[in-house]
Amino acid sequence: AWLRELAASGFSFPRVRARRLRIHPGVRSLVAETRLDPSMFILPLFVEDGLKSPKPLRGLPGHYKYPPESRELVELVSRALDLGVRNFLIFGTPGMRNFEGSEAWSPRGPVQRAIRFIRGEMGWKPVVMADVCLCGYTDHGHCGYPRETPRGVLIENDRSIEAYGRVSVSLAEAGADFVAPSGMMDGQVAAIRRALDEAGYTEVGIMSYSAKYASGFYGPFRDVMDSSPRFGDRRSYQMDPRNRFEAVKEVLLDAVEGADIVMVKPALSYLDVISEVKRSIPWLPLAAYNVSGEYLMLKAAAEKGLVDYETLMLEVLTSIARAGADAVITYHALEAAEALKSSK
Ligand code: PBG
Ligand code: ZN
Repeated sequence: AWLRELAASGFSFPRVRARRLRIHPGVRSLVAETRLDPSMFILPLFVEDGLKSPKPLRGLPGHYKYPPESRELVELVSRALDLGVRNFLIFGTPGMRNFEGSEAWSPRGPVQRAIRFIRGEMGWKPVVMADVCLCGYTDHGHCGYPRETPRGVLIENDRSIEAYGRVSVSLAEAGADFVAPSGMMDGQVAAIRRALDEAGYTEVGIMSYSAKYASGFYGPFRDVMDSSPRFGDRRSYQMDPRNRFEAVKEVLLDAVEGADIVMVKPALSYLDVISEVKRSIPWLPLAAYNVSGEYLMLKAAAEKGLVDYETLMLEVLTSIARAGADAVITYHALEAAEALKSSK
């Protein structure tokens, strides 16, 4: 009787029962606002000069560094394609480092060789993207060129983006579909677009790490790449974690400079940023980088045996998509593609 009175007094319950949409898994899927699909994943790949065989990565369990021209690398790409993961982002470790990071634009550099090898073996089927930065190639470990100034050591912007242009052209020559500048230098997209166009690579796209924060979540990656700055930190070029709206500014600048895809990085502590960017500029394809520390957190938690890894992984990826990311760069890509096959 009290229920009837409640209804009569104007409350929607019990006529509206939200749970009706949660009974059948088919209905749950029918009305799901977010859908995960392997085609939205980008799988990071690591290659290193001089390796004889794949080397397991301590900070990224389940992942390896590959010799640039290895059977195993091509097999991994082909396994991914079979699972519906078609996009790849390649990082390289050179055999030699110097101040300039000149191996980054060498035609014999690890990433250039890997791209040529993949192209030779599998043609244009996989989408091959390549990271553009100097930190893994320089002896100082910074993403640009440090210089002594009256205010202390600063990273020189304009000389650095000139180098990014050279790196990008050499990656395009090797057969990259997209280049992905991650150095957070001002004007890097404009410089790269210009260099690519002048070299005739008008069809090669730019996925820009537009809003990349100075984050502790890169720890495992830096261990893998041995790319930590040898002095100082990256806070004079990467974004301050306290800022949300500044991400919109960074994305707009990159859009004007000619970025085809923009990015927010990391993803999990920055879901509000992803959402802000997507709502501000919905027509611009947005990627989010689910970074190494985020991946390792789940692996470490699962190792304790107190959480279900697969559930956590799909929940994390769903949250990134729900926040507004169109694409997700993630070390979970293959496991997630596998899980999506069997779930639902
Ligand atoms: C460097 C770079 C970093 C990542 C990709 N490119 C981190 C850094 O600033 O040191 C992070 C990737 C990850 O943590 O998964 N330009
Ligand atoms: Zn860098």
